[in-house]
Amino acid sequence: MSETYDIGLGNYDSEIRKKADSDFVSFWGEQAKNLTWFSSWTKTLDWKPPFAKWFVGGTINASYNTLDVHQNSKSDKPAIIWEGENGDSRILTYSDLLIQVQKFANVLKSLNVTKGDRVTIYLPMVPELPIAMLACARIGAIHTVIFSGFSAMSIKDRINDSKSKIVITADGGYRRGKIIKLKEIIDEAIKDSDIVEHVIVLERTKNKISMSAKDNLWTDLMKDAFDSCDAEKLESSHPLYILYTSGTTGKPKGVLHGTGGYLTHLHSTFKWAFDIKDSDVFFCTADIGWVTGHSYVVYAPLLHGATEIMYEGAPDYPDQSRMWNILQKYKVTIFYTTPTALRMFMKFGDDIPNSFDLSSLRLLGTVGEPINPEVWKWYFKIIGKGKCPIIDTWWQTETGGMLISPLPGLETIPLKPGSGTLSIPGVNIDIIDENGTPVPSNTKGYLAIKNPWPGMFLTLWGDDEKYKNVYWSKYANYYYSGDYALKDDDGYFWLLGRADDVLKVAGHRIGTAELESCIVSHNHVAESAVCGIPDDVKGEVIVAFVVLNHKVTVGLDILKHELLNKIRKDIGAIATPKQIYFVSKLPKTRSGKIMRRLLKSIANNEQIGDVSTLEDSTVVADIQKSIDNKHY
Ligand code: WTA
Repeated sequence: MSETYDIGLGNYDSEIRKKADSDFVSFWGEQAKNLTWFSSWTKTLDWKPPFAKWFVGGTINASYNTLDVHQNSKSDKPAIIWEGENGDSRILTYSDLLIQVQKFANVLKSLNVTKGDRVTIYLPMVPELPIAMLACARIGAIHTVIFSGFSAMSIKDRINDSKSKIVITADGGYRRGKIIKLKEIIDEAIKDSDIVEHVIVLERTKNKISMSAKDNLWTDLMKDAFDSCDAEKLESSHPLYILYTSGTTGKPKGVLHGTGGYLTHLHSTFKWAFDIKDSDVFFCTADIGWVTGHSYVVYAPLLHGATEIMYEGAPDYPDQSRMWNILQKYKVTIFYTTPTALRMFMKFGDDIPNSFDLSSLRLLGTVGEPINPEVWKWYFKIIGKGKCPIIDTWWQTETGGMLISPLPGLETIPLKPGSGTLSIPGVNIDIIDENGTPVPSNTKGYLAIKNPWPGMFLTLWGDDEKYKNVYWSKYANYYYSGDYALKDDDGYFWLLGRADDVLKVAGHRIGTAELESCIVSHNHVAESAVCGIPDDVKGEVIVAFVVLNHKVTVGLDILKHELLNKIRKDIGAIATPKQIYFVSKLPKTRSGKIMRRLLKSIANNEQIGDVSTLEDSTVVADIQKSIDNKHY
């Protein structure tokens, strides 16, 4: 029996769950009425498995719903309170934001961007990032934001795949006091591109940049831009954005999200999970380059006309108290962060948060990885002073918004440290076995989802087949999430990590296949296998096993250095392995499959278990010898 915490807000609303269970389609139809539609839908759901269209016939605009709808009552209310890493700060009210978005929408139009065009955005965490996204949404262009930690090569792949004719970037961004020269990375990414027609460059750090014929400065373009631009009336399933994410095979996939369903999902979950009130100050620490930033920094808070904090830099810069400083300074009421960040803060010691006034806090959230119960309790006690519910939210880039979470804005249920509690109303989650049969309670299985939900992605950009194969073909009638989970006797979900070859390093999603193909493309490498091993702060870290070609004469130190550089260059620093082991063979089954489980156990110094399916049983001793001989 795990401990329970009877803490929550609001009242239990069993009616809403009953309604959702009896007819999820009309339930979501009711929720969608919370948004402003230009014209109402004629059909709530068109479900031709596995393709779902929500609110067919309805027309809507994401920028209109996040900005225009608040102009009567909240035009002077701060929408974004931004703090730069270097101490700069800016406040943008709902009226400021609308003006900037309309101006930038006109800039995009002047560069011939029209409905359906893709626009790549590679910006630091500055207000111009949501401004650019909302300007795209205003004219029906599809934004594709790339996290500013990705390399030139990763950007090139994404631009080629999405065929973006416009790229928006900055001269640089601050991270740990250093300037990351984003424009230089873009120059490298598009140097041979005949797809990109224009690059828009925001001057954030004022470092020296070279300008070419394609380049335009943000300020020059905005100077004379007209500050009014009507929001396009878009079909509900008009694509809002592409966000690339790692999977089990090949290059990252372009997850494509629509508009009406996605916004409905966000509006409802933000209200239910965070119990948002007009007086709240919301702070989500996610970078907008990831889905949490898209959904719960940009769209959900603005749909509700909330005031939010946006922070540019590292959470522990210039010192370990930066986060608590921000919380105290802006009297943050709702704080949403990751288990990795919390584990880091916990290591810094209790004295730091204890020396700040965090009494404004009333709700705490977490996302991105399983949260260890000790960390949950620390968060609850030290940060929330025992009075704030912890909202452990499970979801994915593909789901668009939360699917499992406590919902204090809707109901009060006891919390259990480490469990996301129940699914949101209107979503049907099962834990199933290999054959697709639901497993009994307290049994580990695969988390799978029956029935579409409104935030569900439309497809993978340009690849309907892959969409079907990756997510919908493993089990009939189920969306396959790739996660292990179990349901306890109270029906609470416990997430138990990935069931596939996707790693979660510091909450970032990394595909082993992508990393392995990068390593193997080094001309001295014959084969490689990558796995994750547990880490105190990052949840897991990457370990790579590398088999070299026969004739390699270069020293291992040099090779290691070259491989690390290659990974940083081809993918980005987030994919850097903590350890590279050079081994003579990889453990394989008789059918030739690499036994990652075994590599994981070896790297982790654990019992290796059953190895009877190994093709060559000497391989284990060989690998252990390489590790002992420090062949890394
Ligand atoms: C993991 C992030 C446990 C999970 C929003 C999922 C979690 C993957 C949780 C998606 C949580 C996310 N507890 N695990 N509360 N939230 N995950 O696409 O493995 O970056 O499949 O979306 O993160 O990662 P993604």
